Amino acid sequence: MARILITSAIPYINGIKHLGNLVGSQLPADLYARYARARGHEVMFICATDEHGTPAELAAAKAGKPVADYCAEMHGVQKELAAGFRLSFDHFGRSSSARNNALTQHFAKALGENGLIGEVAERQVFSVADNRFLPDRYIEGTCPNCGYDKARGDQCENCTKQLDPTDLIDPRSAISGSTDLEVRETRHLYLRQRSLKGEIAAWIDGKTDWPILTTSIAKKWLNDGEGLQDRGITRDLAWGVPVQFPGAPWQGMEGKVFYVWFDAPIEYISATAEWADATGQGDSAWQRWWRTDMGAADVRYVQFMGKDNVPFHTLSFPATIIGSREPWKLVDYIKSFNYLNYDGGQFSTSQGRGVFMDQALSILPADYWRWWLLSHAPENSDAEFTWENFQASVNKDLADVLGNFVSRVTKFCRAKFAETVPGGGAFDDRALALIAELETRTRAYEGHMEAIDIRKAAGELRGIWTLGNEYLQSAAPWSVHKTDPEAAAAMVRLGLNLIRLYAVLSAPFIPDAAARMLAAMHCEDGAWPGPVAEALTALPPGHPFTTPDVLFAKIADEEREDWAKRFSGVRA
Ligand code: 2FM
Ligand code: ZN
Repeated sequence: MARILITSAIPYINGIKHLGNLVGSQLPADLYARYARARGHEVMFICATDEHGTPAELAAAKAGKPVADYCAEMHGVQKELAAGFRLSFDHFGRSSSARNNALTQHFAKALGENGLIGEVAERQVFSVADNRFLPDRYIEGTCPNCGYDKARGDQCENCTKQLDPTDLIDPRSAISGSTDLEVRETRHLYLRQRSLKGEIAAWIDGKTDWPILTTSIAKKWLNDGEGLQDRGITRDLAWGVPVQFPGAPWQGMEGKVFYVWFDAPIEYISATAEWADATGQGDSAWQRWWRTDMGAADVRYVQFMGKDNVPFHTLSFPATIIGSREPWKLVDYIKSFNYLNYDGGQFSTSQGRGVFMDQALSILPADYWRWWLLSHAPENSDAEFTWENFQASVNKDLADVLGNFVSRVTKFCRAKFAETVPGGGAFDDRALALIAELETRTRAYEGHMEAIDIRKAAGELRGIWTLGNEYLQSAAPWSVHKTDPEAAAAMVRLGLNLIRLYAVLSAPFIPDAAARMLAAMHCEDGAWPGPVAEALTALPPGHPFTTPDVLFAKIADEEREDWAKRFSGVRA
């Protein structure tokens, strides 16, 4: 038994996440957490809301609420949706927590004391009407390159040219539209990451087992151009972790907060402390996951995230940890994902394009989405959600293969024997061949799950389900029963035990259906299978069961068309 720490990238607080966000971090992390628990490991699975930064402030202003209230409310909404998708976090924290305030300041102080923080005076655009400095992307104007009139201060999204705010013609505040802008001087703290470059490069070089997507992005950022740059870790904002605090190794930083990307990953640690607080435990309970001097040296730490988050997790957060010169746990394995597209375009939060978590659950239960999303996870390239593909996968894999198997076996048994596992007969050659094949495939499935090869694991699981159907088809107990009821009994006994085995193997992907299958089998033993031949004797002759209702309903063409239409536009 190992100890496995699992974190999912923490979703921004401003707004409900779409299915592309879900499949890029939280959902695959849940799959892995469930699998690791099922294999008997001790797991700590952490997520949180990422609550600081300008987008949170602006979303709150738009909602007409104080930002703290807005965040508290949206945290509740996201937490409930996570539960709806059966995301099995041990704790779903908040980056605005007191724990994260304190820990962020602690790291900044340690970095400062280690000579890794410098002060830089900068000239930045200040909006007099908004009474605030404007981040580059909140300055709008006309692109000097193509004339597009809504170009942002960091980039023109029409011609993709990288811009500086001062390049814009007729610049204005994207917040208020005001053109009353000034360039003012402001001082910021910079993390001297460049001096850690050698250490970080060596650390990444040692990670030879990481997915190519992760290492290629990390190395590109590390080696391209001027490499790992020193970066500003403070902002002139009101909402965030205050930069000036008692004992801080700098002065005159009142009114500034740490940059959201500085405090967000620290929340992985803080959220574990929040978990300890919430469960009435002392500091050692969370420190044994995070402090290598407190027992975390033998923890395996796995992170899940979309590819846009990789630079922050391979370079910036490790720079914070390494630069602290304190014994904090560094990540062991980073599983990253490409993007999921939506019906010929991109999912977009800002444009409200695609299917969002609340909408998805309003039309179908979580398992339908979990299965499609995980079995189509954008691992090696971007993937695309289409309603046709969704309908086809659900109808085939879940309804025709798995659901149908469960239904046929239980209904036949009830009709010809009783709602108990029938005794008599012995496994014939066909059954023995099936068991041998299941043994091979189950062990292959475990291998893919351990390697977090999600599509391969889903493919193997689908293959395992299919074997059951093929067996039933060729063994045909309904005809055998006419001449040899004992032989038919053995087939059905095998089928009923397969339902239990399928429930256990499928639970990480489709936990609700798996629980229903186990309940139908009157079985509380969800133990992971050792040798398959042995696992298939768990339900002995005479063991009762209840024929379950339909496990998965098929998606009708009219439904598909209706949903495709309903979700074709832009969310209000
Ligand atoms: O991309 C995002 O959704 C960010 N909120 C992820 C932050 S992950 C971590 F650093 F906390
Ligand atoms: Zn342009």
